[in-house]
Amino acid sequence: MPIKTTPADFVAWFRSVAPYINSFRGKTFVIAFGGEMVADGKFVELTHDFNLLAALGIRLVLVHGARPQIEQHLATRNISDSYHQGIRLTDAQTMQCVKEAVGRVRLEIEALLSMGLANSPMANADIRVAGGNFITAQPIGVINGVDLQHTGTVRKVDVAALNDRMEFGEVVLLSPLGFSPTGEVFNLTLEDVATATAIALDADKLVFLMDTDGVLDTNEALLKELTIAQAQAVLTAKCRQPDDVNLFLPCAIRACEAGVARTHLISRHTDGAVLQELFSNEGIGTMVVESTLNTLRDASIEDVGGILKLLRPLEEQGILVRRSRELLEREIERFVVLEHDHHIVGCAALYPFPDEASAELACLAVDLQFRDHGYGEAVLNHMIELAKLQGLKKLFVLTTRTAHWFLERGFVESEVTTLPAQKKTLYNYQRKSKVFMRKI
Ligand code: ARG
Repeated sequence: MPIKTTPADFVAWFRSVAPYINSFRGKTFVIAFGGEMVADGKFVELTHDFNLLAALGIRLVLVHGARPQIEQHLATRNISDSYHQGIRLTDAQTMQCVKEAVGRVRLEIEALLSMGLANSPMANADIRVAGGNFITAQPIGVINGVDLQHTGTVRKVDVAALNDRMEFGEVVLLSPLGFSPTGEVFNLTLEDVATATAIALDADKLVFLMDTDGVLDTNEALLKELTIAQAQAVLTAKCRQPDDVNLFLPCAIRACEAGVARTHLISRHTDGAVLQELFSNEGIGTMVVESTLNTLRDASIEDVGGILKLLRPLEEQGILVRRSRELLEREIERFVVLEHDHHIVGCAALYPFPDEASAELACLAVDLQFRDHGYGEAVLNHMIELAKLQGLKKLFVLTTRTAHWFLERGFVESEVTTLPAQKKTLYNYQRKSKVFMRKI
């Protein structure tokens, strides 16, 4: 077994994937990749990943490009590439090359998807590839006096036909070509085909494999998650983005605005990028979603497991006092949880002392992976609001290790004697926690 980790890691990893397997079954994913994937000989690995997705019951539409192959065909025939405002002008001669190049790439992809070698990830694979006249196109027409001829855009997607194919468990492979009711063929871009198809199918995911890792911030750090509004801000901020991002991010926005739940921009250069993006919480590239995936809400008894998972490491380091599951269950209504994409990533509890018009803020914790996102602050502010609603005037915390965090947020160190009477009697003099108070 070529697994470098321990068996325990393997089991833990496999179990962690179970929620994704459950939630992806029967869902529709549109995955788009350029002809480079095939030209670079990288498509075999990607095939293995598609095979896995199909085997898990995901309805797959693959959209391929053919740009390098078209360019090669044009070059061997000495036909020069002609672009107008970044869009290829497809004259009759070029269209001939486009048809040939797209046809070849498609055949190659179909061949690779048909592999079934024993001892390979494709053993026992039984992928049926469907193709057909699913995309109706129309000419782009004349732009600033230049007729783009056979270059087109998607006009209609035959949703019923695509659904029929997927109902039969077939994987649909779309080429960047479309047909017109007059029998003409049009040269389309893969991003147009993929976006229009994802929208028409009301797909759950649209994935673009691109040359770079994802969308970058001004420090060139990867932005892992963007709402539509944030994605629009990235584009208008004009902070330099890789070409692929400029190409695919507007498509991601268009798709998400039209109801596609999530669009992912990931690197085509990382082996298994699709799997890493889909089967982990943090992903590997940039994910665009309609609106924030965070919810701050009162905890319920079902959250006890998640809260315990969050608190245990902090308890083990002595940052928080250990709480048993029973205690947590009993006091669950005092807790608030911060969820990110259905995972509990933060929590806190409020213990009011109405006689003293104050409350203790306890168990404030944020998952390590989500530090520096301002989540701790969001939870704190929420707790302040909750305390105010109960007419309380002061909030206090007992802490041994996180004094600074509270000092920076308006808390001041206070004597143990200032604690509410009932709390004072419970104060653990061995632990020597410091008391920090804040007026609210
Ligand atoms: N695996 C999850 C999904 O497919 C989350 C992916 C998160 N990705 C990211 N780039 N933030 O929806």
